Amino acid sequence: MRRLIGVGVGPGDPELITIKAIRVLRGADQVFVPVLARPGEEDGAEEGRAEATVRAHAGAARIRRIAFALNDPGGVTPGRAAAWDAAAAAVAAAFTAGARTVAFATIGDPAIYSTFSYLARTVTALAGDVTIETVPGITALQDLAARSGTILTEGTESLVLLPLTAGADALAEALARHDTVVGYKLGSTAGPGVDAVLGLLGEAGRLDDAVFGARLGLPGEDIRPAKELAGGAPVPYLSTLITVGARAGRGSRLRGAGGSRLRGAGEGDAGDGGAGESRAGRGASGSRADRGASGGGDGSR
Ligand SMILES: C[S@@+](CC[C@H](N)C(=O)[O-])C[C@H]1O[C@@H](n2cnc3c(N)ncnc32)[C@H](O)[C@@H]1O
Repeated sequence: MRRLIGVGVGPGDPELITIKAIRVLRGADQVFVPVLARPGEEDGAEEGRAEATVRAHAGAARIRRIAFALNDPGGVTPGRAAAWDAAAAAVAAAFTAGARTVAFATIGDPAIYSTFSYLARTVTALAGDVTIETVPGITALQDLAARSGTILTEGTESLVLLPLTAGADALAEALARHDTVVGYKLGSTAGPGVDAVLGLLGEAGRLDDAVFGARLGLPGEDIRPAKELAGGAPVPYLSTLITVGARAGRGSRLRGAGGSRLRGAGEGDAGDGGAGESRAGRGASGSRADRGASGGGDGSR
């Protein structure tokens, strides 16, 4: 049986990888790591985001770089399609050369906005009988929540993950209808841009609580309140935003204790009760986890 395994290696910190992922990376005949390059130019490319974590845990001899147009904002561009085809051809060639297990490392989780899904489809079309598997990874949103002391959800709260490349209207709707909203791809040029995103957060009364994290676990890491980004320099592609739903105190979002935005934007707003009050005075830099655990005082989430 030939196996292609998408392995989540976490957002950047080499310690945020599972034991299973390490075992699969060490046991694979070949480990492919994506790098930002054109096919054929992999050797000169900057170290890939997943690559550093893979190198920290697996022998260099079996690691092979594979080119992807990772930041390309233009959809299925000729460059991107060519990169998918070349990557799949390289994986198929590894199988032809005798590999039984090929691993493909991906940042975060391979099931979330990962190049792995495109690769797997193309390999299946090209190489035929290949079993596709994945090993889950810790996502950037989990790392940012942990690092900023953010509790993502409590009780009946909803959590939505949105690529900000989906556009301003999608973000406005998510902010109106859901409690915790996580925005990926904040730095992509295909999205509305940082100032537009901050404007929408402000209109929804959710700017003061939003937290921003860029290049988590990587050189140049930057974690701070999102409002500090206003009017500043462009943010990196690896940038994530979290804004959590309003909480009026300990257990306020348990079933029967408060409103749920999921009933609809208008009702949800009404059901939030002391939303304005609970948001006041909270900065993104403090530990929400600590405040939540204390069960009172500032009425934090
Ligand atoms: C193509 S998606 C990959 C998501 C990844 N598979 C996951 O499970 O987290 C890229 C987006 O993930 C987020 N991201 C991934 N790694 C990150 C990191 N180290 N720091 C901040 N954001 C990161 C950013 O929002 C970035 O634009």
